[in-house]
Amino acid sequence: MEVTEPTSIAGRQVRTPRASNRSAAPCLPPALSSVPRVAFVPVPLELLLMTTGDRALSGGRTLRVAVWRGDAQTAVISPRPDHLTPTPFMIRECLDELTRKGMRQVVTSALSPLERDVFLAAGFVVRERLHLLAHDLRHCPDSSSPARLRRARGADRAAVLALDRRAFDRFWGMDDAGLSEALAATPISRFRLAMDHQVAGYGVFGRAGDRGYVQRLAVDPDRFRRGIGTRLLADGLRWMRRHHVRQAMVNTQEGNDPALALYLHVGFRLEPTGLTVLTQTLPVGL
Ligand SMILES: CC(C)(COP(=O)(O)OP(=O)(O)OC[C@H]1O[C@@H](n2cnc3c(N)ncnc32)[C@H](O)[C@@H]1OP(=O)(O)O)[C@@H](O)C(=O)NCCC(=O)NCCS
Repeated sequence: MEVTEPTSIAGRQVRTPRASNRSAAPCLPPALSSVPRVAFVPVPLELLLMTTGDRALSGGRTLRVAVWRGDAQTAVISPRPDHLTPTPFMIRECLDELTRKGMRQVVTSALSPLERDVFLAAGFVVRERLHLLAHDLRHCPDSSSPARLRRARGADRAAVLALDRRAFDRFWGMDDAGLSEALAATPISRFRLAMDHQVAGYGVFGRAGDRGYVQRLAVDPDRFRRGIGTRLLADGLRWMRRHHVRQAMVNTQEGNDPALALYLHVGFRLEPTGLTVLTQTLPVGL
């Protein structure tokens, strides 16, 4: 079991950001081994403050573990990109170790169908199903929103995180570490704010080779349905196209009808298979 640093977990449920592309929160990239992964699941992960010692678990080469943001007793477990899919045995060994370390709950990164089945066999249950959508960038959307876009600066982070807390529910909310992860999940990222008299929305977009990712997108709830989400997406998708991205990916929770409607509105198409976030409650002590 490998203990990862925030930047190496993506969005979650994440993998090695610069090499993988997996995401952690809604808008997190795919976990499919054949597809780049980005950060959009509960991206917000903190450094898991526990040591594994010299003894590597059998799953150590294929699993990555971090602490769930804001909850020291919840771990996020994630198959490592570009490694063999772990076996249920490896996963259970990892869970035993987490139990011994006092963890009470485990959630997975956003898993592909193959990964999901292995984790289900290890006793996990479904926490959330995610739509996976793709955009070929042939027709980028236009927006008539008057909101002005500008590059986000370090001093904007507090306002961005406050907006994020208002836009997302607690499970999908993001903290400062999560924001850093979303920005670091791909080799190149773009972080833009939509402004009126204050921050009205923000978007984090990423590029890895010829793939692009919508890592995070949120609009102030007082400003929904004014074209701000479309404005941010239009900017992000055009940026990808300018840099020869061939396909943009995004994911969102199955119950997030506004986000799904927005992505379809700007030209994303649903992929035939989505992603799944699983969870398991651990026994007390061993
Ligand atoms: C999803 C979200 C970004 C949309 O932002 P927005 O600025 O309200 O979206 P827009 O005004 O640009 O909407 C464009 C189109 O998307 C669709 N749409 C957006 N919100 C919708 C809703 N609540 N219901 C139905 N359709 C909706 C509509 O087709 C809309 O066009 P219309 O208003 O002319 O009918 C916003 O609701 C949000 O921040 N939600 C919480 C965070 C979130 O879920 N982020 C996405 C994570 S993957």
